[in-house]
Amino acid sequence: MLTIESHVSLKPYNTFHIDANARYWVEITCEEDIYTLLQLTEFVDTPKLILGGGSNVLLCQDFDGLVINVNIQGIEVIRADDDHTYITAGAGVNWHKLVLFCVEHGHAGMENLSLIPGTVGAAPMQNIGAYGVELEQVFESLTAVHIQTGEKRTFSHADCAFGYRESVFKRELKNQYIITAVTFRLDKHPVFHTRYGAIRETLAEMGVSDDTLSIQTISEAVIRIRRSKLPDPAEIGNAGSFFKNPEVPKPQFDRLKAQYPALPGYPVGNDLVKIPAGWLIEQAGWKGYRTGDTGVHAKQALVLVNYGNATGNDIVTLARQVQQSVQEMFGVLISPEVNIV
Ligand code: FAD
Ligand code: EPU
Repeated sequence: MLTIESHVSLKPYNTFHIDANARYWVEITCEEDIYTLLQLTEFVDTPKLILGGGSNVLLCQDFDGLVINVNIQGIEVIRADDDHTYITAGAGVNWHKLVLFCVEHGHAGMENLSLIPGTVGAAPMQNIGAYGVELEQVFESLTAVHIQTGEKRTFSHADCAFGYRESVFKRELKNQYIITAVTFRLDKHPVFHTRYGAIRETLAEMGVSDDTLSIQTISEAVIRIRRSKLPDPAEIGNAGSFFKNPEVPKPQFDRLKAQYPALPGYPVGNDLVKIPAGWLIEQAGWKGYRTGDTGVHAKQALVLVNYGNATGNDIVTLARQVQQSVQEMFGVLISPEVNIV
């Protein structure tokens, strides 16, 4: 049974805690709900916004259309072979809950992606990544339903065209498909990813040796690091990294490095070097900055925050100032990761 509500506040449904309203709101809990929705002729031409956990959106105005909140649950081990276990999860499953399920049952591959907020269905959208692992490394396929025609389609890894914080769903197929379920391929023989950032250091602090290294201990280390750096949306409104880390041609990186010897950079192929935007923003003097209820987080300059009653446009104004000052100082354009609505 579908219930369509009117004039719903979206404040509890976005982690920036922006106070915007939806003209209409519906929660879908199974694929059938989508087909039922498509039969409601009065909503055929209504603009639609698909929403999971609201942890990667910035709402800049009321949404004069129908918000479709995807809450399809269920985690199922569908098959296994000598090397892999295949698991399908509903799009509404909390991402971290799925990671914990896998860690607990010894299905390896997602442990570095612990504690990322949001839902399973949104994870392929920007090919979520953290601590040296991206979703695409454990992705097998997904199912999605076209928001207008009701066509059901299976997308393979290649169909999704994953990139760094990118997929076909963020580009060519933006707002066209409701992702309903995702199938993952997990390893029976774990490969540990401990090179990134402070993972090794944190494992050492936890007293973990090579003998006790496991997907559980890696997950715990990642959780510790994240809690120490990133603001908890339950306390301070934010959507994680506001910008993507820019990738610049190697000659440009070398020129900048000559000018700023401490500049960090990671080669990413195609003669490009990825620069941490957090470093650029910090050097431009923004870390810990606050004006009104908007600010730049004091422990992670890549995260913009809402201290209380900021509007989406207040956050966008600050983002533009940060972007402009980084451009002026370094000649590097940083682009938003967050989906601005
Ligand atoms: P939403 O914010 O609800 O939606 C995001 C986009 O996906 C929107 O465009 C929406 O229309 C679309 N969408 C949502 N669900 C569906 C669906 N079922 N079908 C089709 N489209 C859909 N991200 C990382 O990659 N790495 C991190 O380390 C990371 N850390 C974070 C830390 C914090 C504190 C926060 C607040 C965010 C962080 N993020 C990170 C960003 C965010 O957690 C991810 O982008 C997450 O996948 C968003 O999930 P969601 O369900 O909240 O998506
Ligand atoms: N740095 C600074 N100052 C800062 C922040 C970062 O100098 O205030 C520099 C440091 O050199 C540090 C480097 O940036 O070593 C990298 O910092 P960190 O490991 O915190 O990662 P990040 O590049 O800032 C990215 C992702 C995060 C993800 C972490 C961990 C993007 C846009 N962000 O952040 O993802 O959790 O790596 O892998 O790629 C998100 O997408 O929302 C998100 C939080």
